[in-house]
Amino acid sequence: IRRTTVKAALESPSPCPEIRVMGWVRTRRDAKGFSFLELNDGSCLGNLQVIIDDTAEGADLVKALGVGASVAVTGELVASPGKGQRYEVRAASVSLLGAADPETYPLQKKRHSDEFLRTIAHLRPRTNKYGAMLRIRAALAHGIHDYFAKEGFALVHTPVITGSDCEGAGEMFRVTTLGPEAAALPVAERLSQDFFGKEAMLTVSGQLSAEPLACALGRVYTFGPTFRAEHSDTSRHAAEFWMLEPEMAFADLEDNMNLAESLVTHLVRLVLAECAEDFGLFAKFVDPTLPATLENLLAEPFVRLPYVEAVDILTSCKKAFQYPVAFGADLQSEHERYLAEEHFKRPVIVYDYPKDIKAFYMRQNDDGKTVGAMDVLVPGIGELVGGSAREERLDRLEARIAELGLPLEAYWWYLDTRRFGTVPHAGFGLGFERLVMLVTGVTNIRDVMAFPRTWRHLEF
Ligand code: 4AD
Ligand code: MG
Repeated sequence: IRRTTVKAALESPSPCPEIRVMGWVRTRRDAKGFSFLELNDGSCLGNLQVIIDDTAEGADLVKALGVGASVAVTGELVASPGKGQRYEVRAASVSLLGAADPETYPLQKKRHSDEFLRTIAHLRPRTNKYGAMLRIRAALAHGIHDYFAKEGFALVHTPVITGSDCEGAGEMFRVTTLGPEAAALPVAERLSQDFFGKEAMLTVSGQLSAEPLACALGRVYTFGPTFRAEHSDTSRHAAEFWMLEPEMAFADLEDNMNLAESLVTHLVRLVLAECAEDFGLFAKFVDPTLPATLENLLAEPFVRLPYVEAVDILTSCKKAFQYPVAFGADLQSEHERYLAEEHFKRPVIVYDYPKDIKAFYMRQNDDGKTVGAMDVLVPGIGELVGGSAREERLDRLEARIAELGLPLEAYWWYLDTRRFGTVPHAGFGLGFERLVMLVTGVTNIRDVMAFPRTWRHLEF
């Protein structure tokens, strides 16, 4: 007997006299002399229709099956006379793997709200929408690894536990030791014991570790979880999120912009080409303008706009913003979205930001006021990518660290990359959840991660 998945069965090149498939019941209908099941196993969006004659083995238990029960079906894969599917299964036998009480199973055949589904994050992957989102997320992750492998980047694994605050924003979670010895100490002392006696945090970015690796291997990328102690309730920030961070030696800001643009357009194309069925669900039920938005994103190069020009546009437009803009102000989400959604109506890469609002490691421009920073802003999301050319000149970097009052000694290893064979280099971080939001039209970051972590959400 050929053991198969729903996807493989639906895409089978030919009928098959005997297959075995397992999955969860999406619907059951009883007719005179037989029953229908719609079976889903998560391998694809579609369900496999199973017809169980009353004389088939296990037919009696089928009549008692509720939505959500798991079953194993053995039978013949035949061309389906009904429309909507190529194949269906004529069951020879059905066995129950696990019952689901219809009175208490939370996912009934109706549309549930996102808010409700967040309260059952362990079951929502069984719905069409969350299954499709997770498959698209997986396709994007695979696509990212393929892309960088083809472009000659080495995948590097950077630590999650760190002693340094890459972004200098102080939004870090601290790592604390538990266990009998630590627990016996007074709190103040316990904190000083954090990581074997050192202060340790969860990383906000792998960049500081990726830079020395790029300054050895040339082109690297790291892709992993990052953490920010954001106490904000926005739909675009999570306390734990995945960041993709390429870092390139012998590269400048323009190379960095080129890479970001090429990567994002490649991944959007990949979703349209390889995730057509799952993407179709989002285009139909979540955001009907999604196909047009993404086609538009691919149609022309991204706009490239110096920060000073962005400020000009924002100060001379008629829009009433909550936060004022002037040179020196960080762009708020409302400004970023105005630029991408209303003014240019396409992705915009803003670059050369004022140095005072950016991190210590960014390359100082000759004007003395700006740094070689870049943010990729996209419609519907705002900031998708943040990156920069890195300050590779030792004297400039040391001066900046001192100017910001950061502990110079702590950066000795980072400064060594500038001390010995320094090279121009650049990199960026792409928020993976924001990318998933972009290609699915989902507007809340909590709905593009399996188990979101925000200041409200720690369950599951
Ligand atoms: O702009 P950010 O803070 O850049 C850095 O951390 C750099 N060290 C990256 C680098 O150059 N290697 O973060 C990068 C991206 C943002 O553009 C955004 O997409 C995402 O990470 N991001 C978040 N996504 C979800 N929740 C949060 N709290 C996020 N904070 C940043
Ligand atoms: Mg940023």
